[in-house]
Amino acid sequence: MSDSNDKPNASDPAAPAAPAAPATAMTDDAPVSGAALPGSRASQSLWSSRTAFVLAATGSAVGLGNIWSFPYLAGEHGGGAFVMVYLVCVLLIGLPIMMAEIMLGRAGRGSPVHAMAAMARLHNKQSAWQFVGVMGVITAFIILAFYSVVAGWMLAYAVRMVGGVFEGQLADGVSGIAGRLTDDPERMLAWHTIFMVMTAAVIARGVEHGLERFIRWFMPLLFVLLLGLVIYATTTDGFLKAVNWLLLEPDFSQLTTGSVLAAMGQAFFSLSLGMGAIMMYGAYLPRDTNIPGAAATITVADTLVAILAGLAVFPIVFANGMEPAQGTTLVLQTLPLAFGSMEGGTFIGTLFFALLSIAAWTSAVSLIEPVVAWMVESGRFTRVSATTLASAVIWFLGAMVVLTMAEPDFQFSFEFAGNTESSGLFSVFEVATYKILLPLGGLLIAVFAAWVLSSDAVRKELGLSDNLFFLWRSLAGLLAPLAVLIILLGGLNAF
Ligand code: TRP
Repeated sequence: MSDSNDKPNASDPAAPAAPAAPATAMTDDAPVSGAALPGSRASQSLWSSRTAFVLAATGSAVGLGNIWSFPYLAGEHGGGAFVMVYLVCVLLIGLPIMMAEIMLGRAGRGSPVHAMAAMARLHNKQSAWQFVGVMGVITAFIILAFYSVVAGWMLAYAVRMVGGVFEGQLADGVSGIAGRLTDDPERMLAWHTIFMVMTAAVIARGVEHGLERFIRWFMPLLFVLLLGLVIYATTTDGFLKAVNWLLLEPDFSQLTTGSVLAAMGQAFFSLSLGMGAIMMYGAYLPRDTNIPGAAATITVADTLVAILAGLAVFPIVFANGMEPAQGTTLVLQTLPLAFGSMEGGTFIGTLFFALLSIAAWTSAVSLIEPVVAWMVESGRFTRVSATTLASAVIWFLGAMVVLTMAEPDFQFSFEFAGNTESSGLFSVFEVATYKILLPLGGLLIAVFAAWVLSSDAVRKELGLSDNLFFLWRSLAGLLAPLAVLIILLGGLNAF
C-alpha cells in the first residue's frame, strides 16, 4: 500500500482528537474498538489506507449505473435536459450526502443499522433512527435482484464477443442478438446465477481481501477503454449530433416531473447513496482521512465515467438512425455495433464487457456487504452462513425478475410517474429503489447528519472549517431534503 502514513492501528495517535470539546465522543472514540460496538467486524479490518477506501468506494459507485442505466435513462428522457438535472443533483444533493454517509460510517463503525444506532445513542437520540439502516438492507436486496440480472447480460456479452458474432453486423442483427438473450429466461437465469456466485465468493471472504487489487488495475483500464470508444465515436458522423443532444443543447421543454425524478434517482443510484453502502465502506475507514476530499474524488470519477459512456453510446445511435429511447437494452444494441465494425473490435469488445462485468461485480459486493455485516453483528451468523443465506434470497428474487421479464405468461406492465413501465418485476424493483427507497433513504441520512446529531461534533468529524460546514449543512440539511421531498412528492403525484 503506497500512502501508509494513514495506516490505522489500535492507538492511532494521529487521530485529530479534540479532547476538551463537549460533544467529541465521536471524534475521540478509540478507532478500532468501534463506537459502542463490541464485536463489530470493523474492529479487525480497516482499509489499509485512504487510497484503498477511495478505490473501493469508486468501485462501488462505478458500475452498471454509469454505463448501462445512465445512457438508457438519458435516452428515454430526451438527453441534455435530463443530463443537466442529473449533474445538478450529483453536485448539490449527491456530494453532501456522500460526505454524510462516510462520516456516519466512520464514526459509527458498523453496518448501517448499527452505525445509525450507535450514533443515535451517542447523541442521546431516538434509537428508531436505526430503521434507516434496516431500510437500506431491504433496498440492497431489491437492487441486487435486478442488478445481478443485468450484470449477467454483460457476462453473456463478454462471451459472445469472444466468438466474434458481431463482426460486420448491422443494427438489426445486433438488436436480434440482444433480443435473443433478454427473451430467453434460461440463459438469463444461468448468467444471473454465475454472477451471484461470483459476488458471494468475494463477500464470504471479506471485502478487503482481493477487491482492492481488482479495482486498482481494472478500473483505470475500463476508463481508458471507454475513452478509446469515445475517440472512435468522434470518427462517426453521429458524434456532433450526440454532443449537442446530450450536453450542449438541453431541451428543457422535454423535462417532466417524471424525468426530474428519474435524474435524481439515477444520481443516488450511480453514487451508491441512500442505502448505506458508502456508510458501510466508511466504517472501515482510518480515522484521519479527509472526508470531503475523498467524497469529491469518488463523485468526480463516477460522473466522468457516466458522461464518457453517454458520449460512446449516442454517436452510434445517431450514426445508425436508431432511436435514443430504446430502453434497458440500449447499451447492448449500440456498443456491439461499434465493436463489430472497428479494427480489432472482437478483442476490444471482449475486454470491454469483461471489464464492465468486473465493475458490476465490485458494485454488487458493496450492495451485499451491509446486509452480511449486519447479520454477522447479530451474532447469529458466521460470515459464510450470512453470505449464503442473503445470496440465496437475492438469487431467488432475481429469478423472479427473469421470469416476469422473459416468460410471456408472467409479464405485466404498469404506469408510474407518468411513464409506462414494462418488463414486470424488473421495473417494479427499479422504480421502487431508484425513485422511492434511495431518495428517501438519502433524505433521512441527510437530516440525521445535519440536524439530529450535534453539529459541533459533525463539523469536527467532517473536518470542515466553519464556512464550509455552513455550506455543507445548507446543502445536506436544507436544500437536499427539500429538493428530494418536492421531487419525490411531485413524482408520486404524477402517478
Ligand atoms: N453505484 C453502482 C452503479 O452505478 C450500483 C450500486 C452499488 C448502488 N452500491 C449501491 C446503488 C448502493 C445504490 C446503492 O452501478
